[in-house]
Amino acid sequence: MLEIRDIAKTYPTAQGPLAVLRGVSLDLAGGTSLALTGESGSGKSTLLHLAAGLEKADSGHIAIDGAPVTGLDDAGRARLRRETVGIVFQQFNLIPSLDVGRNLAFQARLAGRADPDWQAVLAERLGLAPLLARYPEQLSGGQQQRVAIGRALAARPRLILADEPTGNLDEATGDAVLDLLLALVAESGAALLMVTHSARLAARLDARAHLHAGRIGAEPVA
Ligand SMILES: Nc1ncnc2c1ncn2[C@@H]1O[C@H](COP(=O)(O)OP(=O)(O)OP(=O)(O)O)[C@@H](O)[C@H]1O
Ligand SMILES: [Mg+2]
Repeated sequence: MLEIRDIAKTYPTAQGPLAVLRGVSLDLAGGTSLALTGESGSGKSTLLHLAAGLEKADSGHIAIDGAPVTGLDDAGRARLRRETVGIVFQQFNLIPSLDVGRNLAFQARLAGRADPDWQAVLAERLGLAPLLARYPEQLSGGQQQRVAIGRALAARPRLILADEPTGNLDEATGDAVLDLLLALVAESGAALLMVTHSARLAARLDARAHLHAGRIGAEPVA
């Protein structure tokens, strides 16, 4: 499903080039989940953005369902994000001018896969049903996070990239969100790559990868 091979990514900074990823490889099969851990600044969000085609790697290879992400032109990367990938951003990236219902539907509409019944199920399971007419600025951080999750799932993506999707949630709500994500993976055969700082949540996924000093180690997340 997702194949990441020897990815390198360096950012230019005022202090000179910052090598964030120095040869990262990962494999994620459909119907499976992988927890990505690593200290703050280790490059977890960078890796998710590369997998989603939001940024370009300096070198290496990324493929989704056998189709190369690296090497796609802008239109191809936009189509990938619209139709194949559901990304839950660490900073949510909700659209401020749209209410919750329209934020939830946004990506599915773009992908031509709007499904009101499925959207209602997601809103219910994420506890958003009473909030559909509110705007993002009228929501708590945890509520915004749940809208971001619902939006990413509404188009039934093959690949779910979730950047600390439970970071703003209390333990019980975080557990419920992970239940939902893992149920979708089991039911739909989608693949889930999830960043988390919680060893407890990471332990519930099928596999774990730890990012340190620009590389993936199999280091346990104990
Ligand atoms: N556009 C950019 N320009 C320069 N440096 C950047 C840029 N984006 C990220 N960085 C740097 O790259 C490193 C990795 O950032 P990234 O956001 O991937 O970390 P992270 O593992 O997601 O951290 P956190 O757990 O805090 O979210 C950090 O040192 C960050 O400051
Ligand atoms: Mg991050």
